Amino acid sequence: MAQAQEAWSSRLGVILAVAGSAVGLGNFLRFPGLAAQYGGGAFMVAYFVSLLVIGLPLCWVEWTLGREGGRRGFHSTPGIFHALLDRPWARHLGVIGFFTPVVIYMYYVYVEAWCLGYAVNALTGRLHEPGLDFRQFFASFTGVNEDGAALKFSTSDVGIFLIIVFILNFVFIYRGISKGIEKVCTYAMPALILIALIILGRVLTLGTPDPAKPDQTVLNGLGYLWNPGNVLAGLRNPELWLAAAGQIFFSLSVGFGVIITYASYLRRRDDVVLSGLTASAANEFCEVGLGGLITVPAAFIFLGAAGIAGQGTFALGFNVLPEVFVRMPGGQIFAVIFFVLLFLAAITSSLSMLQPGIAFLEEGLGLGRKASVALLGLITAIGTLFVWYFSKDLKAMDTIDFWVGTLMLFVQATILVIIFGWRIGVNEGWRLMHEGAEMRAPSFYRFVLKYITPLFLIGIFVMWLLRNVAGWNFSFSAPTFQPSGYITDLIGANPSPVARLTVGFIAITTLFALILTHLAGNRWNAARAARRNRHT
Ligand code: ALA
Repeated sequence: MAQAQEAWSSRLGVILAVAGSAVGLGNFLRFPGLAAQYGGGAFMVAYFVSLLVIGLPLCWVEWTLGREGGRRGFHSTPGIFHALLDRPWARHLGVIGFFTPVVIYMYYVYVEAWCLGYAVNALTGRLHEPGLDFRQFFASFTGVNEDGAALKFSTSDVGIFLIIVFILNFVFIYRGISKGIEKVCTYAMPALILIALIILGRVLTLGTPDPAKPDQTVLNGLGYLWNPGNVLAGLRNPELWLAAAGQIFFSLSVGFGVIITYASYLRRRDDVVLSGLTASAANEFCEVGLGGLITVPAAFIFLGAAGIAGQGTFALGFNVLPEVFVRMPGGQIFAVIFFVLLFLAAITSSLSMLQPGIAFLEEGLGLGRKASVALLGLITAIGTLFVWYFSKDLKAMDTIDFWVGTLMLFVQATILVIIFGWRIGVNEGWRLMHEGAEMRAPSFYRFVLKYITPLFLIGIFVMWLLRNVAGWNFSFSAPTFQPSGYITDLIGANPSPVARLTVGFIAITTLFALILTHLAGNRWNAARAARRNRHT
């Protein structure tokens, strides 16, 4: 391609960038919430099985295919598939790879703005005002009570923070791979880990803050999350497997189309085996070692089991924790740094969601950096405005998260692993993966990559469809079929106009992405034909 080739400036830089993409709100809010909901022990078994069977293999697949695409001058999934598969349909298959992260960005940045907003409100003392009702504050800050309610611009509303965060992301993206993303991650990731360690130190030394509640101790708080309980009974619950596998996807950012793009900026002989493993290990350290020890134990110590039970991801982070910080000695400062931590985790992830789009616009349409940043800015601004306006019950965000942020990840991951194991072939894939490698992956992973990962993935995907679309309760003796709200919102007796509009928006965006990919394909084919002519 004619574009100037960008590259990571150091090995540590790319590992931090991939880890930055992986470490996000999923690590500090989603993971502890799920682990508490499903009972630590059984959930962790399913979680680690999913890590070893789908998470790690998919990381290696994305790193390998990405570097291979980069060697051929491509950085977006449509371009990489076009170069590697050399089939007219290949680039269309790759659409999901840039469409998914860009659409996820549209709502992820909304939550990122909450984190910055909460950090500022903690700093100004607003979150510590006596008698503040946190649920009400959250509802008015995010607009969950009414559509359009969040389009306000005081410091107690998301608006101003959303605009700041949105622009900030594009400023960094505009600066490019090494000067933008890599630089941000090089500072943000160590800062994030340091802050998390400080907060962890605080939580683990809380003792028994309320003598009237002697059971609410640090140890019991850790036990609430981590006591194994009845592991075998837990593992018989298919929903637990769906939750654990879904968390691995979301947390490692596999199937997003992000790692494949990041890896395409590696140099030709850069290692991918050890780097992929290191980035995944860094994510697991932040998720299990930090995220899993902070949020839920802290909430338990002050509010007891009743204060945590049934709280979803957002309620845990934005209702329960602010209440915890009010009761905690030195709570205001810990509230500030906790929300800064969430913000740093979120921005390093949201940046990674934009780069696949930029890469595609540059190499697919031949746009320069300014034009591609402006066009992607416009497209994502429309989507974010949509999510921001249709904030009632967070319906637009939730609907996109289901159809794109969950469903598409399964589809994309399955495509990637089948291309690696069956189209390129596991032997050739394994050889490519080990070029320049600084360690060898255990050789049984050859078998895992070819058979186990695709089967496990397809099995989980089918279960997910049976649960959410068909609504099966997983019972053979007394089966019931009650499709999830995401389906009844569209075709039930009482459909949700916003959910329908959101799915319409996703469909239009998909169509637009397919048209752009078609144009890109024409351009790539013309370039290939010109090259052939030059050689004959
Ligand atoms: N991997 C990112 C997170 O965990 C998306 O938030």
